[in-house]
Amino acid sequence: MELNQELLEKAKEASQKAYCKYSEFPVGACAFFESGNSYIGCNVENSSYGLALCAERNALSTAIVKGETSKLVKLAIYSPKSSKCFPCGACRQWIKEFSKGFNTEIILEDETGNCCSFYIDELLPYEFQLV
Ligand code: THU
Repeated sequence: MELNQELLEKAKEASQKAYCKYSEFPVGACAFFESGNSYIGCNVENSSYGLALCAERNALSTAIVKGETSKLVKLAIYSPKSSKCFPCGACRQWIKEFSKGFNTEIILEDETGNCCSFYIDELLPYEFQLV
C-alpha cells in the first residue's frame, strides 16, 4: 500500500479510539517523521468543553514523549463525520512547530474516499514566531 494511504488508514484506526462523548465527532491523526517513525492520536474531550484535545496535537505530543526529534514530513487526519477534515487553527500552529522549515504534507480523505494532499504553508502561511 502507498505510504499516504497507510498513514490515512492508521488515522482511521485511531479515530475509532476517540473519546468524544460531547461532540460525537471522532477524529484520528497519524504523524509521520523523517526518521520513518509514525505516531497516532485521537481527540479526547472533557465535560469542560473548551478543554478538548485535538487528535493532531495528541499525535504530536506522543511523538515528543517517545523521543522523536526529526522533521514532521506528513500528517494524516481523518474523521468519519466529514470528508477533508482540515486541522483547526491551533493545530496548524502546532504542525508548524515540528515542520522545522519543511513544508509538511497534510493528507486527508476526499469525498470519493481517495487520499488528497495539502501543504502546511498553504494552510498557515504566516505562523506566530517569537523572533
Ligand atoms: N478536533 C480535532 O480533533 N482536530 C481538529 O483539528 C479540530 C477539531 C476535535 C475537537 C473536538 O473533540 C471535536 O473535534 C469537535 O470539535
